[in-house]
Amino acid sequence: MNHIFNQGKNGNTLLLLHGTGGDENDLLPIAGMIDGDASVLSVRGNVDENGMNRFFRRLAEGVFDEEDLIFRTKELNDFIGQAAANYGFDRGHVIAVGYSNGANIAGSLLYHDGKVLKGAVLLHPMVPRRGIEIPDLTGLPVFIGAGVNDPICPAQETKDLESDLTKAGAEVEVFWANMGHQLTRDEVDHASAWYQKHMKGE
Ligand code: MLT
Repeated sequence: MNHIFNQGKNGNTLLLLHGTGGDENDLLPIAGMIDGDASVLSVRGNVDENGMNRFFRRLAEGVFDEEDLIFRTKELNDFIGQAAANYGFDRGHVIAVGYSNGANIAGSLLYHDGKVLKGAVLLHPMVPRRGIEIPDLTGLPVFIGAGVNDPICPAQETKDLESDLTKAGAEVEVFWANMGHQLTRDEVDHASAWYQKHMKGE
């Protein structure tokens, strides 16, 4: 997959996953605000939707192509493993930072593959799959940044996601803003404070 890898100074690797129409450059400043000493693996989604990069296909706004989601989730999981071997970072210390479509594939990694991440920062995510049994996520720290008035990721999606992840054993913290689907500085500051508490790299 197209990507950027920046070697850091501590043992954590931030897996950056952009939103629809973005690329691997978008979240680099956010990574710096969350943990400037971590390594960064920033990936570009392999799906092209009318010229916009995405991590998996959708049938309509908010309606996911489940078959493609499953295929792309495996592709991403395999890619993280290959990158860990190539660049020599610890596969067990990967923390996803995803926005919108990127948050949805990060959520999909947890729903399908369980604890393949050390933690996850999900910014404006939706429920990636419904009606499946989620693997054990006991003790996995997850931060969700959501908007009470997000038209793309409605508040109920956040509540359902929090409930699914919590039932699977994850330790979920939700930060609510009222800036629609926008990623705000306040939200990133809260994600950063959560990271300092739960994810700090040694
Ligand atoms: C998705 O398709 O993943 C969500 O609707 C969010 C987005 O528009 O990227």
